[in-house]
Amino acid sequence: MKNDAKRVAVIGFGAMAQSLKDSLRGSGSGIEIAATLVPHDLTVTHDGVEVFHDIASLLAWGPSVVVECASHEAVRNTVPPLLRAGIDVIVVSIGSLGDADLLLSLETAASAGGSRLTVASGAIGGLDVLRSAKIAGLESVVYTGTKPPSAWNGTPAEQKVDLASLQDATVIFEGNAAEASRQYPKNANVTAAVALAGVGFENTKVTLVADPHARGNTHKVNASGAFGKFEISLENKPLPDNPKTSWLAALSVEQALHRHFQRIEL
Ligand SMILES: NC(=O)c1ccc[n+]([C@@H]2O[C@H](COP(=O)([O-])OP(=O)(O)OC[C@H]3O[C@@H](n4cnc5c(N)ncnc54)[C@H](O)[C@@H]3O)[C@@H](O)[C@H]2O)c1
Repeated sequence: MKNDAKRVAVIGFGAMAQSLKDSLRGSGSGIEIAATLVPHDLTVTHDGVEVFHDIASLLAWGPSVVVECASHEAVRNTVPPLLRAGIDVIVVSIGSLGDADLLLSLETAASAGGSRLTVASGAIGGLDVLRSAKIAGLESVVYTGTKPPSAWNGTPAEQKVDLASLQDATVIFEGNAAEASRQYPKNANVTAAVALAGVGFENTKVTLVADPHARGNTHKVNASGAFGKFEISLENKPLPDNPKTSWLAALSVEQALHRHFQRIEL
């Protein structure tokens, strides 16, 4: 069967892909990252990992599943041809899926190839609840992201408050997920994951907070609807060897890969 061949490739070989590769290698699951697609100007040397610089060579290698751990641009350019060729893809750059035209072209490619695109949950959780609850109707979904002030340097927050002298937790953005993704693209993966699982980009409320007392990044989701009420709060630690990516996001990709190969999804 197709899934018995565990020929796993990753697009990109940055923090998340490398963490995924190392973690899988130590997992005893038999699932290994055996190939990677990276930009032409990137030199990658890793034991047992074939390196490709163009999609045609990766397709010729014949992956059974590909994990996108690269960029929004990679989702746009490399994922459609893979789906069209019948190869399942797990995507972690979820913010890219806020582009309705891209989403449509991915759907068209997957239909043509008889393949599937799966979204990893990334740095957020509770998406299963939102997906289930929306069937009966969700009234409200609110995402609140809190980070230390310095984490908002280089964002529009700098024009609103003096980040360096904040004494108390301060709201630096309030709006919907569509606007939040535009203004704060570094948060776009998490807001997109919540929006796509729940009530969409226009109707998902987003509050972003700079908190001088915050020890790390926290994500909260509050939702209510016919099902009842829901609240989740996550305080994520970064990858042990890369402070810019949350560990949970890398683990969510690994979990999605395990589920891809499982005969029984538990
Ligand atoms: N869903 C989430 O919650 C979540 C959390 C963290 C990161 N992410 C996303 O995951 C992706 C990877 O994160 P990371 O921390 O590993 O980033 P990284 O910058 O460490 O690594 C990304 C790698 O991808 C490569 N790359 C970029 N575009 C490419 C393309 N078109 N083809 C092939 N390779 C390409 C880059 O050269 C780089 O080596 C990013 O898009 C990031 O936004 C998502």
